[in-house]
Amino acid sequence: MPVKFADRMATVHRSFIREILKVTEDPSIISFAGGLPNPELFPVSDLEAAAVKVMEETGPQSMQYSTTEGFQPLRQYIADRYKEKKGIDVDADEILITSGSQQCLDLLGKVFLNAGDNVLIERPGYLGAIQSFSIFQANFLTVGLENDGPDLSELEKVLDENEIKMFYAVTNFQNPSGLTYSPEKRKGVAEILSGRDIIFVEDDPYGELRFMGDFHKPVVRGFLEENGILLGSFSKVAAPGFRLGWMVCPGDIRDKMIIAKQASDLHTSTFAQRVIHRYVTDFSLDDHIEKIRERYGNQREVMVKSIEEYFPAEVKVTRPEGGMFLWVTLPEGMSSMDLFDEAIKNKVAFVPGRPFYVDGTGENTFRLNFSNSDEARIVEGIKRLGAGIKDFLAN
Ligand SMILES: Cc1ncc(COP(=O)(O)O)c(C=O)c1O
Repeated sequence: MPVKFADRMATVHRSFIREILKVTEDPSIISFAGGLPNPELFPVSDLEAAAVKVMEETGPQSMQYSTTEGFQPLRQYIADRYKEKKGIDVDADEILITSGSQQCLDLLGKVFLNAGDNVLIERPGYLGAIQSFSIFQANFLTVGLENDGPDLSELEKVLDENEIKMFYAVTNFQNPSGLTYSPEKRKGVAEILSGRDIIFVEDDPYGELRFMGDFHKPVVRGFLEENGILLGSFSKVAAPGFRLGWMVCPGDIRDKMIIAKQASDLHTSTFAQRVIHRYVTDFSLDDHIEKIRERYGNQREVMVKSIEEYFPAEVKVTRPEGGMFLWVTLPEGMSSMDLFDEAIKNKVAFVPGRPFYVDGTGENTFRLNFSNSDEARIVEGIKRLGAGIKDFLAN
């Protein structure tokens, strides 16, 4: 008997990247495909010390059910850090701790999206958001990214011509492109969104991983006063295995998010929240982030230099000032899917760009991750990839 699945599952596919990662499990393949932080930088012994302290001092409480909103001292820490690092005012009571920022996307879908609602995303856009909002049968519209953020005239046009429920954007070192919104573009986005009946979701898991240049205020609270939701995560600055993220939103929205989260998982792991709080209290997160910046900054430098040496000149690459990804554009007409098959034979992998485009374009693009390979493997992998691209162009 065929199983009858819900209609909402009909258009949602397994994550394309997870499928690719299976191919790249072979250790002889140099993989720039995953979006993984470098595990050598996880603060394992500090987290261990924090975990032991939590167990010794508050064992039973940290094993108990807790509030949906999340551990108050952790929310206060996040609010204080926004003030200190970004210069924006956030109240601890506007923060909801979530099971990774990915859960925020699920909650946003539950709270805001009816089937067929228009959701605006960037082109290219974050695959995890596409998958999450697809479950709620969103209809996607896109706005193209330029080197310093979205094309503002396209943004205005798409908003004028369509009734859009939500605009989802990754404003720092975007996944997949590595691109960052300039202060001018942030201001422009806020001006265009102001006064419109639309939810703006700013997802910022990479903002603190800046290796060069200046920090920018988030659009939400920095430039846009109303209807803005800001997402954050400990995944890239501490460890993704804790599954700790958060959402900053006005009280009326947070009340609905709390209901949706209660229905999903009651609350985020009490233990994980207390351990991370202990970790950021007893150790310096700033010092730790500095180490990540230094390592990723060097790896990014090596990747950019290797690309300049080994890729043909007609291949275009973004030069991000932080984060974990570079974005490659091949000459028009070339398929990165075809290149992928060839690259795997040469024992090197990347993520073809097409899945990041809901409109079926982006065939000639691909994503490279630089956070999770050492410098020697980056040089060797880019050399192999460059040889593959040259072969392709020659044919
Ligand atoms: C833009 C973006 N948002 C959200 C996430 C999910 O992160 P988390 O581990 O906090 O769920 C990722 C992870 O790669 C991401 O790139």
